[in-house]
Amino acid sequence: MSPAETNPAARTVASTQSEMTEIILPNDTNTLGNLLGGRLMHFIDLTGAMAAYRHSRTYIVTAAMDHIDFIRPVRLGDLLTLKSSVNRAFTTSMEVGVKVWSENTQTGKLLHVASAYLVFVAIDKEGRRQKVPQLIPETPNEIRRHADALLRREHREAEQARRKEARLATTAQEDTAPINP
Ligand SMILES: CC(C)(COP(=O)(O)OP(=O)(O)OC[C@H]1O[C@@H](n2cnc3c(N)ncnc32)[C@H](O)[C@@H]1OP(=O)(O)O)[C@@H](O)C(=O)NCCC(=O)NCCS
Repeated sequence: MSPAETNPAARTVASTQSEMTEIILPNDTNTLGNLLGGRLMHFIDLTGAMAAYRHSRTYIVTAAMDHIDFIRPVRLGDLLTLKSSVNRAFTTSMEVGVKVWSENTQTGKLLHVASAYLVFVAIDKEGRRQKVPQLIPETPNEIRRHADALLRREHREAEQARRKEARLATTAQEDTAPINP
C-alpha cells in the first residue's frame, strides 16, 4: 500500500503538478523585444499558485518568491511553458518549485530560461491560516527536492531574522535622530 493510501489526508507531488503556456506578445516585452522580468515573475507566481491550490484546496497567499534565476532572455513571439509542483508542505506553508522553458515557434528548440522557488501560505476566507496536508515525495528527484526545501526554509528563516534585526536597529537610530540634523 502506498503512503498516500495509508494516509488519505496526504497528497503526492504528482497531484500538485501544474503547467501553463503563454505566447509572448509585444505587451510582455521591453524595447529590445525581450520578455520583461516582472512579467515573467507574474507568470511564475500564477503557475506556482496552481500547484499550491492543488495541494491545499484552500485560499492561498504568496509569502515569498526567492531564488529566481533568469538564465536566458525570452524573445517576442516565443512560446513560454512553465511547470510547477509542491516541493514540501510544512504546517500552513508550502514551498513550490517552478521551471520555465522558451520554445522557438519556427525551430521548436526548447531552452530552460528560468527557475524559481516560492512559498505560499494557506488561508481561509477571513485570512486565518490553515493547516495543509502532508506531501509525499515518491521519486528520487521528488525526495531530493523535499530535502532541499527544508534547507532553503532554514536559510530563509535565518535571513528573515537578520533583516528583522537590521530593521529594528535602523528604527531605533531613526527614533533618536534629530528631525533636521
Ligand atoms: C504570509 C503571511 C500570511 C504570513 O503571516 P505571519 O503572521 O507572518 O505568519 P506566521 O509567522 O505565523 O507564519 C505562517 C507560515 O508562513 C511562513 N512564512 C511567513 N513569512 C514567510 C516568508 N517571508 N517566507 C517564507 N515563509 C514565510 C511561516 O514559515 C509559517 O509557515 P508554517 O506554518 O508552515 O510553519 C502574511 O505575512 C501575509 O498575509 N503577507 C501578505 C501576503 C500577500 O499579500 N501576498 C501577495 C499577494 S497574494
